Amino acid sequence: MTLRIAVVGVGRIGNVHAGVYEKHPECELVAVSDAIKDKADAAAERYNARAFYSVQEMLSSGIRIDAASMCTAGVENGGDHYQPTMELLRAGIPVLGEKPISNNIDEAREMVALAREKGLRYGINLNHRFTPAALRAKEWVDDGRLGELNIINMTMWINNPNESSPWFHIRALHPHSIDVMRYFGGDVEKVQAFFKKGKGRNIWSNVQVNMLFEKGIIGHLTGSYDAGGSYGLETLEVVGSDGRFVLREACEHLTFCPRFSRESETYDYLGGMMSFGETFASRIGRWIEQNLQEVAPEAIDASGEDALKVQTIIEAIIESWEKGTVVDLS
Ligand SMILES: NC(=O)c1ccc[n+]([C@@H]2O[C@H](COP(=O)([O-])OP(=O)(O)OC[C@H]3O[C@@H](n4cnc5c(N)ncnc54)[C@H](O)[C@@H]3O)[C@@H](O)[C@H]2O)c1
Repeated sequence: MTLRIAVVGVGRIGNVHAGVYEKHPECELVAVSDAIKDKADAAAERYNARAFYSVQEMLSSGIRIDAASMCTAGVENGGDHYQPTMELLRAGIPVLGEKPISNNIDEAREMVALAREKGLRYGINLNHRFTPAALRAKEWVDDGRLGELNIINMTMWINNPNESSPWFHIRALHPHSIDVMRYFGGDVEKVQAFFKKGKGRNIWSNVQVNMLFEKGIIGHLTGSYDAGGSYGLETLEVVGSDGRFVLREACEHLTFCPRFSRESETYDYLGGMMSFGETFASRIGRWIEQNLQEVAPEAIDASGEDALKVQTIIEAIIESWEKGTVVDLS
């Protein structure tokens, strides 16, 4: 079977999705849609697909679509996702949305509820954990190699001078970091956060968050839009009673350190994955695979439900800073 794909929003990231589908032997990119006519037309020509200027127009054309990528942006990089996603889901089309699922938690809830009601696969491009190194580390955790998990530390930072809204940094970047933390630690029960505005900035561009996971694991997130460059992108450390691992740059360097021995194990570029950019193809590839296998919606990796939980944690982080309290999510 070949999946007939549509990409909605063919800006920077929509073109990355389109490029992945174009190269995939089991996909046919049949439609591209963008509210800006020139962008839709250019993408249609590039990928030999049909151009549309709205989802409604695309749906009423009668074209068969088996799955769609939703790559709009908007306020806090998520404000435009709701309307076209709802239109696609109402039409019975499985959706792979870009992150954040939405910058508006009520709209995120509605999209997840509609997908559930319609029994549709709904995934989010939380691509940072779709790496051979993260998979290897997850196997170690599941096999008990680290013993009982005690601590999860995550640092994720980039250089982003955009001053669009006060909560842009936590809402737009940290779906990624918190998704990775949840991947290893499970659901989060409590959060407490401090924010700092970077030099000359009006937005909360630096954050420190403490977390208590439901399993009792304690976690910490460091985030910044005033970093990047030589600081790299991300470092994850998971510490257990018998060992710990450190994963640098999502896919590049993974080290396991047994607690009572100095004999550490390091893997560089596991699976041949060289840099973060390659996570798009691995995450979208998994989405394609799960659609071809027609898996149940609840089996989708990095699902809309997962992304909603992440966004709920983000709103609790904001509330913690605004109220000066620990926020309980349970
Ligand atoms: N997963 C990642 O690692 C990653 C990295 C960067 C960005 N992103 C996400 O990708 C998304 C897109 O970012 P971008 O930089 O490509 O934005 P962009 O502004 O370049 O592209 C968005 C496009 O969507 C179009 N659009 C808006 N509303 C539309 C609608 N209703 N129907 C059709 N088209 C519509 C716009 O005209 C624009 O061309 C954002 O949500 C962002 O957070 C994800």
